Amino acid sequence: MLKKNADWRMDYIWFEFWNGRKVSEKYFIKTFGCQMNVYDSSRIADMLKNEGYEETNKQAEADIVLFNTCHIREKAAEKLFSDLGRAKLVADERFEAGKHTIIGVLGCVVQAEDEQIIKRAPYVNFALGPLMYHKIPEVLRKIKADKEHESVVNTDFPAESKFDFLPENKAQGACSFLAIQEGCNNFCTYCVVPYTRGVEYSRPVADVIKEAKRLLDTGTLEINLLGQNVNSYHGEDESGKERDLAYLLHRVAELDGVKRIRYTTSYPADMSDDLIACHKDIDVLMPYLHLPIQSGSDRILKAMNRRHTSGDYLRIVEKLHKANPNIGMSSDFIVGFPGENDEDFQKTLDVVNQVKYIQAFSFKYSRRAGTPAAVMENQVEEKVKKERLEILQTLLFDYQTKFNKSCVGKVMPVLLEQKGRHKGQLIGRTPYMQNLHVETKSANMNKIVNVKIVEATTNSLTGEEI
Ligand code: 5AD
Ligand code: SF4
Repeated sequence: MLKKNADWRMDYIWFEFWNGRKVSEKYFIKTFGCQMNVYDSSRIADMLKNEGYEETNKQAEADIVLFNTCHIREKAAEKLFSDLGRAKLVADERFEAGKHTIIGVLGCVVQAEDEQIIKRAPYVNFALGPLMYHKIPEVLRKIKADKEHESVVNTDFPAESKFDFLPENKAQGACSFLAIQEGCNNFCTYCVVPYTRGVEYSRPVADVIKEAKRLLDTGTLEINLLGQNVNSYHGEDESGKERDLAYLLHRVAELDGVKRIRYTTSYPADMSDDLIACHKDIDVLMPYLHLPIQSGSDRILKAMNRRHTSGDYLRIVEKLHKANPNIGMSSDFIVGFPGENDEDFQKTLDVVNQVKYIQAFSFKYSRRAGTPAAVMENQVEEKVKKERLEILQTLLFDYQTKFNKSCVGKVMPVLLEQKGRHKGQLIGRTPYMQNLHVETKSANMNKIVNVKIVEATTNSLTGEEI
């Protein structure tokens, strides 16, 4: 739908000229939320670069300011509106200096808030849902052509796949995300994803392989295959046959130059035996799996509409350990889901004590409008949620610290991806996703080097190159 934008001025200047030279326009993207949003932002950046825009990390320099938003837990919308308020102030200052700014909002908050975004922030020039971002160039052209344009809002779930309209991408560094699947059909009763990202869609095998090759050709060593429910992947292969994630992992593992593969995020009920066997058969598949259980109580799992019990989950973990005894597990947890009592919570702690997660993410249940759990009557008090989260996190951090400390003295291959704070220091990731700091030559950036671990804390390791 279109809406009048009060703040648009007739004298819009689209290009700055300096000494007769055209200066290209700049864009700034702020990304909130999950790895899928990070991937989406990188594809949006590819698209904008293709259109001749240049990236900047200074918002005040940007002609186009984009917010790629997340709606998974509360406060996301409030955070967005306070960021938008600040962006408006910056845009006003730029306007005083004769520069114009286009403000766009993308992602899951748009899907959930829809027209409300423009009602609350009428200076926003466009808002596109997560399945519509391939329309950005078209929307920008439209906005520029019509100086008195109206704000554009589009939250369609289009029949076409956005992936078919995106330009070829390049490596985002030595580690790149590659979305193979989007959306979710699981409808966990607390979760907005099936509403914001829509039903499951799997990209064809050939498209994934083509993108993976391009990433590898442009410097990627590690590919992280992404999907909201990545292990329900069921894309068509070159002959039209439906294939699963296990098949796809084997295909990606065969590609020249691939040193590491990961896949995120998996749903326990979709951990097939073939997929578990990949952890034995594919040497470049990292020995780390993020497999959210959410709660250890079967009663709560049922109320969450999860299609697994805690027993099913523990059996999967056992099989994974049989396939690869060195595998490290990670999970997401929600505490204070409606109806959760002390006994249910204790069952969550019991699972943690059995699995001994090496990393985990834990959250207080957040009521999301439009989801079934939001209207459940037995909501848990905030104070109780807070107490349970503290107890759970203390236990999780304890296991994480123990695991990190158990690595001291070992040698691990580390993929160095970032400069450290000190000169001569680089930061990388171990196979277990631990952050590791090492003194080494800068030429080792984006390479895998063997490092002996000498120190460990809850959140990072320090090592010496060997
Ligand atoms: N409240 C709290 N946590 C949530 N998550 C998803 N929805 C909610 C919610 N309403 C968590 C789940 C999921 C992770 C991405 O976010 O643990 O796995
Ligand atoms: Fe949300 Fe559940 Fe789907 Fe994960 S599996 S995206 S928690 S609905």
